[in-house]
Amino acid sequence: MRRRSRLPLEQLAPYLLAEERGRQAGSERDRTTGETPLPSSVASSSLLDWREVFGNNHPVELEVGFGKGLFLLTAAQAHPEINFVGVEIVRKYQLFTATRLAKRGLGNVRLACADVRLFLPRCVAAASLQAVHIYFPDPWWKKRHHKRRVFTAEFVAECARVLRPGGQLHAATDVEEYAAVMSALLDAQPALRPLPPPSEKEPLHDLDYLTNFERKFRKQGKPIFRMRYERSESLS
Ligand SMILES: C[S@@+](CC[C@H](N)C(=O)[O-])C[C@H]1O[C@@H](n2cnc3c(N)ncnc32)[C@H](O)[C@@H]1O
Repeated sequence: MRRRSRLPLEQLAPYLLAEERGRQAGSERDRTTGETPLPSSVASSSLLDWREVFGNNHPVELEVGFGKGLFLLTAAQAHPEINFVGVEIVRKYQLFTATRLAKRGLGNVRLACADVRLFLPRCVAAASLQAVHIYFPDPWWKKRHHKRRVFTAEFVAECARVLRPGGQLHAATDVEEYAAVMSALLDAQPALRPLPPPSEKEPLHDLDYLTNFERKFRKQGKPIFRMRYERSESLS
């Protein structure tokens, strides 16, 4: 008999961040075509109050494009003193990850189904995050599709805005060309300064990887390009 892959919505509700915000922030876009144009400016804003969302004032870290949620699961278990927010454009990944969190009763994670390019400017207050994590963003291989990439100058500027001074941006990709683009964009952002990237450790078991994609690529023997930047005191 096939195992039920996700719990009923009522049980997942505590993990799902404000459904209507997800929709406002662009989750309706068809990411397979990516053709829905982004508004040139973000018209309305409804910033989240993290203390209200989590019911405490612990520091908050955000992961962009969490996929099947391995990073959030591991990080939230290891750091109950930190709150984690995931933003993922694909609804089935949001529900899949919420199921994994609910089965473990993890209370320090919330998941939004949204396009991060709209979610950050609309929903996240300036200097409100301790860290932003973005692991293995879709490379969109074809040149004519590069405009669909999440990691752009605008995205980096948004990260600089939402990180508090001393907050960190962590990124990784298996695509050398994209890694070069990402570090050039990060180096060009005056409010961020590079830190030494984390060293690669040998996994102790099959879930001991940063993310699902990291596991896949490391098992294929691919090199992983890692980046870590710190938000400086002032924005410029
Ligand atoms: C290559 S997968 C990597 C998933 C995960 N980070 C990992 O390393 O296993 C990229 C993820 O980013 C999500 N994504 C793509 N564009 C996005 C956007 N604009 N906003 C939020 N998530 C996005 C995709 O749905 C997908 O889950």
